[in-house]
Amino acid sequence: MKKNIIITGGAGFIGSHVVRLFVNNYPEYKIINLDKLTYAGNLENLKDIEKADNYVFEKVDIVKKEEVELLFEKYPVDGVVHLAAESHVDRSITNPNEFIMTNVIGTANLLNAVVKQWKGNTDGKMFYHISTDEVYGSLDKGGFFIESTPYDPRSPYSASKASSDHLVRAYHNTYKIPVIISNCSNNYGPNQFPEKLIPLAFNNIKNKKTIPVYGKGENIRDWLFVIDHARAIDVIFHKGTPGETYNIGGNNEWKNIDLIRLLCRIMDSKLNRSSGESEKLISFVTDRAGHDLRYAIDSNKLQKELGWKPSVTFEEGLGKTVDWYLMNEEWLQNVVSGDYGAYYERQYKSR
Ligand code: NAD
Ligand code: DAU
Repeated sequence: MKKNIIITGGAGFIGSHVVRLFVNNYPEYKIINLDKLTYAGNLENLKDIEKADNYVFEKVDIVKKEEVELLFEKYPVDGVVHLAAESHVDRSITNPNEFIMTNVIGTANLLNAVVKQWKGNTDGKMFYHISTDEVYGSLDKGGFFIESTPYDPRSPYSASKASSDHLVRAYHNTYKIPVIISNCSNNYGPNQFPEKLIPLAFNNIKNKKTIPVYGKGENIRDWLFVIDHARAIDVIFHKGTPGETYNIGGNNEWKNIDLIRLLCRIMDSKLNRSSGESEKLISFVTDRAGHDLRYAIDSNKLQKELGWKPSVTFEEGLGKTVDWYLMNEEWLQNVVSGDYGAYYERQYKSR
């Protein structure tokens, strides 16, 4: 009998890399990709594995408790890797309730389904919740987030993720279900929706449109290649200690403006443009409301206890990412052909 592992949000950016890795590495699992297919979910991301024997897709909205319960009845569940979420900070500023519904209520529905199904028998079971470094708040110039850093979320997105983390820990304590949480820094790589900084800037540079940099571009993020995040999720799911939290990060801090300049240089070279041509597209625009200054993760616990470390340097990862977007023009065209134009207008028109 194969073990049933539900991966939620498996059609999204990070989720699709996790699904691929689990489908390819674990023939002994049946991987159930649970996804509502919001604007961010895209089954094109999984074309290469969609016919695998150990893979199945189920269109389910985690906010709808009945849909979640039905799925759990259909597949008695051994493990859950929970990535489904509303994930874009700017959207959480314009529409916070959507984030509260999906990220808080949706997580509660999954936890309730797990408690109902696992009660009395949690042997070999695991509920693994994927969270973000943003729950820890904003750092000044020095210091790092560690696993015991107090929570201090400052956007509707991070507050909703923090709430879901608290629920997961509370269910572990109260109902004794095995849980693990990981909090990761900013991801980049193939298949990221072009509302996030790197693919948005890529798309604009390619089309010779201005690159909107919020404020003075001095905010700092710690970037990790998405495949290294998926590798960390694999290690933590299989070797992590129930009840524990693991921070995942790239030890790779970049000021936004420096990152955009690096991307411009890479694009000039790949597109045979003259040196400095793309940088001329940079445009400083009105800052994000409540913009966190700096995130930086200390991932020593994960590295020392579970032996994970990033596999690529930032230059390699960014080069691979640019190559992927250049080779997958159709993917990008499909993604930006829907509601993206209207979103872009709303988000950037008045900045
Ligand atoms: P994404 O927005 O690309 O994908 C989210 C997926 O969840 C989509 O496939 C979407 O269809 C699905 N989804 C949304 N609402 C749903 C619902 N109600 N029911 C079922 N499915 C639903 O997100 P991502 O960037 O891949 O992030 C995945 C997870 O990782 C999120 O939990 C996010 O908070 C976390 N995370 C992201 C980053 C990052 O840099 N992107 C970093 C750390 C943690
Ligand atoms: O830290 C982990 C988080 O990283 C994840 O939990 C989130 O799901 C993910 O979206 C990401 O959040 P950020 O807000 O850091 O990512 P984003 O790509 O939206 O922005 C990165 C930085 O770039 C941030 O300082 C805001 C800035 N920015 C962003 C956009 C979209 C710009 O300057 N211009 C832009 O157009």
